[in-house]
Amino acid sequence: MNQAVISGTGLYTPPYSISNEELIACFNAYVAKFNAENAPAIARGELAALEESSVGFIEKASGIKARYVVEKEGILDIDRMVPSIPERPDDQHSIMCDMAVAASEQALARAGRTAADVDMVLVACSNLQRAYPAIAVEVQEALGIDGYGFDMNVACSSATFGIQTAVAAIQSGQARAVLIVNPEITSGHLNWRDRDSHFIFGDACTAILVERADLATSAHRFEILGTRLKTKFSNNIRNNFGFLNRADESGIGKPDKLFRQQGRKVFKEVCAMAAETIKETIAAAGLAVSQVSRFWLHQANINMNLLTTRMVLGRDAEPHEAPVILDTYANTSSAGSIIAFHKYQDDMQSGANGVICSFGAGYSIGCVVVKRI
Ligand code: COA
Repeated sequence: MNQAVISGTGLYTPPYSISNEELIACFNAYVAKFNAENAPAIARGELAALEESSVGFIEKASGIKARYVVEKEGILDIDRMVPSIPERPDDQHSIMCDMAVAASEQALARAGRTAADVDMVLVACSNLQRAYPAIAVEVQEALGIDGYGFDMNVACSSATFGIQTAVAAIQSGQARAVLIVNPEITSGHLNWRDRDSHFIFGDACTAILVERADLATSAHRFEILGTRLKTKFSNNIRNNFGFLNRADESGIGKPDKLFRQQGRKVFKEVCAMAAETIKETIAAAGLAVSQVSRFWLHQANINMNLLTTRMVLGRDAEPHEAPVILDTYANTSSAGSIIAFHKYQDDMQSGANGVICSFGAGYSIGCVVVKRI
């Protein structure tokens, strides 16, 4: 069986950032307008007044201070509160393809590889902008990669599920190198008018090259010591958007066609599942928890990450042990743990072990144990 390594990663960060202050100014202006326009119905008790959001709550409850987005004006327009992303003609690359190419070129360059070295492309993310053809096949064409590609969606865990899929393809000899790309335009599925969740998400794209160990030469190699995936059905994070929506006109445009969650339940249930899976994956790789010096966790909420690492380590993690990027990126879904891995790996010494762990809707948990070569 061939051994697999991660030989390069890439990150595309969109050009616009929205601070909490900008977000709150927009949200509270929308609330004031809604309440003024509906004052008579609110006074009669027929409609509930909307409540304001606050910077203090967001930072305390989540640790998020800002988020990158592919388009800003439409989100901050109180009469719209949706990104404005014009459709493109079929003969132009899609916006997800453009993001994927930018991140992939960086991953290939870091790995010292070209398109000719890659046999398989996986676009693994939470939201795909169309049903078909697969974005992965478009990315394959845009980069000039031979072989095959397909899309996969395991919500926030898509990247780690993609890594295990790539490892299996390398081990079995189906591919010499697999490019996994995670283009996330979460601003498109976020309900910017929902006080409970309007601050949660941001946009980004990551790319990971998984290669056959005996072919890889890059200075950024991580041996993949083990992977573990887990899913357990839950309605606590859900989005009912889909191709059958048109078959019941009464539901079109309703809030359940966007991201929604039972935040408290998710927090409690997912942290426990993630901590358990991390411990199992480390043990299955033949390591003790004390031999792992870095945890690149899913970036949804700082308090979730503090609790998860505490459950794994039996103590609070030092900041360098569990790097945080959600303060400036917010929750970028599948890209989050890979952004942390991409930005916080170069200081690791040869032989140092780390764990990439994602968690999210499904529920889904994905763990990858790696060793710096
Ligand atoms: N601004 C101000 N106050 C707000 C608010 C906002 N935007 N949103 C909620 N509140 C208020 C609520 O009304 C509530 O008030 P009350 O105590 O008077 O009833 C209080 O803050 C607590 O609300 P709650 O929804 O219980 O907040 P929380 O502490 O659970 O934090 C999340 C909310 C979403 C940050 C948190 O539950 C979470 O991170 N959950 C899961 C993580 C996640 O994001 N997962 C995504 C996929 S992994």
